[in-house]
Amino acid sequence: ECLLIKDKPLAGIKVVVTAGPTQEDIDPVRFITNHSSGKMGYALARAARNLGAEVTLITGPTSLRKPVFMTIIEVRTADEMFQEVSGLKDQYDILIKSAAVSDYRASFVNPHKLKKQSQQTTLDLVMNKDILLAMGKEKKDSQVICGFAMETENLEENATKKLLGKNADLIVANQLNEEFAGFKGDTNVVTLIQRDGIVKLNKMSKEALGYEIMEQLLKILIKKRG
Ligand code: CTP
Ligand code: CA
Repeated sequence: ECLLIKDKPLAGIKVVVTAGPTQEDIDPVRFITNHSSGKMGYALARAARNLGAEVTLITGPTSLRKPVFMTIIEVRTADEMFQEVSGLKDQYDILIKSAAVSDYRASFVNPHKLKKQSQQTTLDLVMNKDILLAMGKEKKDSQVICGFAMETENLEENATKKLLGKNADLIVANQLNEEFAGFKGDTNVVTLIQRDGIVKLNKMSKEALGYEIMEQLLKILIKKRG
């Protein structure tokens, strides 16, 4: 696939991609996670690399093969992901936050395996830092930030709120209840939400969508840098 792309439109561009789920420990044997496979993020990282970018992939635990010719940073928790992304905040030209970050973690990680006791119990959770929001707040004029939005209703309205609220340049919005879309499969149906308009894309492979998204992000970067 590399060899087919003779021009390298992203040569010299530093791209950071986050992918996969996070895991938030409850005790030494249990954690909170989600259905993210990491496929979309890995496809984006490969597309960016094939287009000539210098890529860092910050990944939660996935069963995918690690792509070559890029820097891979493995993390588990949202907090670890936050540390790694913010450590690169002065370096990237493009940040892509395709990871499915856990919104909450256990307020207390039990050092021992929890034993079952009563018929009913509760787990106390505290909110994780919003990485996209934090990076959006510190974004430089020359940087481009892309977030994702997973919605089950009011896709365009909710995703537009995330675009503006998190100071992103592009939100890739997934309607989870659509067929062939979302976490597990090799295809996706997304809507691209930008400051200057909304584009509904047809169902396509995550591989093809990776290139589509990188093209949009490059256009935004070129526009910003005049
Ligand atoms: N995100 C993040 N850090 C978090 C939570 C989310 O960086 N702690 C990022 C995700 O990587 C994604 C975007 O924010 O790019 C939107 O995630 P999503 O879960 O759809 O939205 P939230 O802002 O978390 O809102 P909600 O879950 O309530 O819809
Ligand atoms: Ca969330």
